[in-house]
Amino acid sequence: PKAASVTVRGQTIPTDPAWFNAPANVLDATSRRLHLQEDHPISITRQIIQSNFPAPTYKFYNDYSPIVTTAQNFDSLGFPPNHPGRALSDTYYINEKTLLRTHTSAHQADTFRANESDGYLIAADVYRRDAIDRSHYPVFHQMEGSMSWDRNQVPGGDVAAAVWRDIENLPKHDIQVDDPNPAMHPERNPLQEAHHSAAEAEAIGVHLKRSLESMVVDVFTRAKAAALKEDPDFVDEPLQMRWVEAYFPFTSPSWELEVYYAGDWLEVLGCGVVQQDLFINAGVPSRLGWAFGIGIDRIAMLLFKIPDIRLFWSKDNRFLSQFQGVSNNLDSLKRFQVFSKYPPCPKDVSFWLSQGSAAGGNTKGAFHENDVMELVRNVAGDVVEDVRLIDEFTHPKTGRKSMAYRIVYRSLEHTLTHKEANELHDRVCAALVNDLGVEIR
Ligand code: PHE
Repeated sequence: PKAASVTVRGQTIPTDPAWFNAPANVLDATSRRLHLQEDHPISITRQIIQSNFPAPTYKFYNDYSPIVTTAQNFDSLGFPPNHPGRALSDTYYINEKTLLRTHTSAHQADTFRANESDGYLIAADVYRRDAIDRSHYPVFHQMEGSMSWDRNQVPGGDVAAAVWRDIENLPKHDIQVDDPNPAMHPERNPLQEAHHSAAEAEAIGVHLKRSLESMVVDVFTRAKAAALKEDPDFVDEPLQMRWVEAYFPFTSPSWELEVYYAGDWLEVLGCGVVQQDLFINAGVPSRLGWAFGIGIDRIAMLLFKIPDIRLFWSKDNRFLSQFQGVSNNLDSLKRFQVFSKYPPCPKDVSFWLSQGSAAGGNTKGAFHENDVMELVRNVAGDVVEDVRLIDEFTHPKTGRKSMAYRIVYRSLEHTLTHKEANELHDRVCAALVNDLGVEIR
């Protein structure tokens, strides 16, 4: 990318050539706001999740700009300076200090600082450089949620007691949830001793788990109802869930919730007890509570049985018309009917990496697979379905490294002719040579 500045949602930001790595198609996605588009499956899924967190206890923030600072996205959350998430190979930068948010947690500190309610929910588009396949796209959507209690506002300053009273009022569900690990781990997930009593952390953990379990039960009950509408023989196995220990720099203790659905354990969300430094730095040191983050796109794929994440970006009416009316009546949710499946066009390319560096001439030194992914997406757009490494070896004498990738071209909207696929593939090969400095074999 070369422009001297970019304008995103009305804000113009100067680019720095040493950092700017966001291609036009990714920047264009910032204007789409699928999570707010009526009757779009991303928006419907957002509404379903949101319906489990009642106002006014929870306040909804659905319109934060995707342009954030490294302070918002990383520093405020306690990410160390060398954290891999900060790398140019993983994150889209505009300049050294400005980037496209990689997660909705980028807004935690600001939302705590605003201090407009005890609970909040944030829905937003997020951006990550990643692989290409049917469940990965450089733009996806997340929801962030939090609930906290103010020591100065609960009776007698007794947060644990206040939290237990609130737990009594949470919706009940009758699913047995496995929770085999101890909540705290001495290194990874210690009790925040300087700030919380064990009783407070325990109560907050229980409130967090019950709140999120109920939301997930609701989502998966709706997914099953939709599946049964279409296929009365859908294997209606009992829903199973389990909590597993996790690590995030901005929560302790931390967990992930996994759900067993249609034969697989799926990781659904990450969460934990908020690091007290976040509240302290946000000017609300007397608050304590929990936060979670959930990816919307994968949940939407399974709610509607949508086979390819690229469909969310489609403007094809054969896709969009299928969800009409659902935003206003969430119970009318039906599964997506595949309108047609066009044949895939797989093509292989193998190349030598440029000598010496075991690296291509990419954005910052060493060869990174995400550069190949993005290069293919830039040439072929949404016509690329999957890119995977099929072979890799180092020549025993010269020490040169060779890689082979299989690229599957397949349009969601029409049958690709051989000519079209070959032209795309030729352009991909030329770009590999030009931009990454590889030698085609
Ligand atoms: N931001 C985390 C992620 O993207 C999820 C998360 C949010 C975890 C809030 C804990 C608390 O993976």
